[in-house]
Amino acid sequence: MKMNNQDEALRNRNAPLEMTSDEFREVGYQVVDSIANLLDSLAQRPVTSNKSAKAIRSIIENEQMPQKGITPGHLFEETTDLLFEHSLFNGHPRFWGYITSSASPIGALSDLLAASVNPNVGAWTLSPMATEIEVQTVRWIADLIGYPVTCGGLLVSGGNMANFVGFLAARTSKVTWNIREEGVGATNQHLVIYGSKETHTWIEKAVDLFGLGTKAMRWIDTDVNQQMDINALEKQILSDQADGHLPFMVVGAAGTVSTGAVDPLLEIATICRKHDLWFHVDGAYGAPAAALPEASAQLKGLKEADSVALDPHKWLYAPLEAGCILVRNPQTLIDTFSSHPEYYNFGGDGEDSPLNYYEFGLQNSRGFRALKVWLGFRQAGREGYIVMIRDDIALAEALYRLVDAHSELQAITHNLSITTFRYVPNSLPQDESETEVYLNELNQELLNRLQSGGEVFVSNAVVDGKYVLRVCIVNFRTTLNDIEALPEIVIREGRKIDVEMRPEHLTN
Ligand SMILES: Cc1ncc(COP(=O)(O)O)c(C=O)c1O
Repeated sequence: MKMNNQDEALRNRNAPLEMTSDEFREVGYQVVDSIANLLDSLAQRPVTSNKSAKAIRSIIENEQMPQKGITPGHLFEETTDLLFEHSLFNGHPRFWGYITSSASPIGALSDLLAASVNPNVGAWTLSPMATEIEVQTVRWIADLIGYPVTCGGLLVSGGNMANFVGFLAARTSKVTWNIREEGVGATNQHLVIYGSKETHTWIEKAVDLFGLGTKAMRWIDTDVNQQMDINALEKQILSDQADGHLPFMVVGAAGTVSTGAVDPLLEIATICRKHDLWFHVDGAYGAPAAALPEASAQLKGLKEADSVALDPHKWLYAPLEAGCILVRNPQTLIDTFSSHPEYYNFGGDGEDSPLNYYEFGLQNSRGFRALKVWLGFRQAGREGYIVMIRDDIALAEALYRLVDAHSELQAITHNLSITTFRYVPNSLPQDESETEVYLNELNQELLNRLQSGGEVFVSNAVVDGKYVLRVCIVNFRTTLNDIEALPEIVIREGRKIDVEMRPEHLTN
């Protein structure tokens, strides 16, 4: 009898996570309505709520692991409130910190659709249409930035991972032994790699995590424009060769993280060809700007690279997470990553072998990141992306001009859509060496106040020892009005801090 009841229950399962289609519809409409209201109200909200970690934690910390479930409608009401009242909104028109874009609404809907179908884009059989959409997305990204569309590539979680994949492909491809079998220790020679001092920290993680050690990194000097010094690069390569090391890779930046500087990519390509080195471009931020007809020849020089990393979640306005790696010769990805789990039956019938993304990168099971990028391309088209990127650059230029014209602000750099500047009070002694120390402290405090104030959100950089405010516009919601409001806000806060902090000996 008991058995029969259990059978019956198993025949008509009522899983606690299941929803009827009516429930799903009702809750789904409710969530979409809340999101639409959020989007409507973004500009009127503070960019971030100025609450401490302790205060935010205290809102939920006493909640115990639930023993029984609650109906989803109620949960979403509560959770949208939690998130809408206690988040930093990088979709706000006045968010210009770090390099996180305003995410496109179509990207949010794409993620819902992707999660609902839930294809595993590790293998074609598990994701037939999703795999083909990813293949096309990779091709379109290459097409957009002028990279050969015959390249291989895949979507990953972000810039670090995209650059790691490029690094690993370079390593397998350029060493003379089978590194997958013999490892990096198969020779007494040290593998070495080159990037400018402005290279993002992914490179330190790569040499550390993948067995080369951080001493493998050669930090090449930059010039006054924060671009790699090509003579210093070649000198270092020659010196390493003379010392019996094994140079294998040079990383050029298509938009550095601090100031958006673009390295002389054409010259780096020539040096790499001359010395048989892998040329990798870190375009996590700036590569999409190569789509602009007016982009510099150096930026367009990324087409010469063996691999290019580029983040759709930065300047293609996709919601987190979406990074992408493009590799000129797709076979190098297979040579680097392919493995054949016994339990996989994904080879196809031999006639038209399917593309299995687990052979191209670090993951086996993979989500459908490509959908949000693909649908973004289809909504805005190449022309739409060019307009958005061009506008972001024009706004950063406008900011540079505004700041430059103001006696209490000092414009420092402008490249792509990044402008840096600092607050310099009018009556400060010009030549005191301690003035610089004070200006750094003042601008650091200014950054803290701006970040917690909620009116705008900027981040910082250190340029030639100067602590500067950094505005990075990868935000299709920012208008000229938003940019014009910034100098007054900075000056208002800067003056207050100057009154509080200025040491006596710097007072006239
Ligand atoms: C040039 C560059 N490379 C790599 C990265 C790392 O990207 P992610 O944070 O997506 O891993 C960034 C992030 O800002 C970047 O600007």
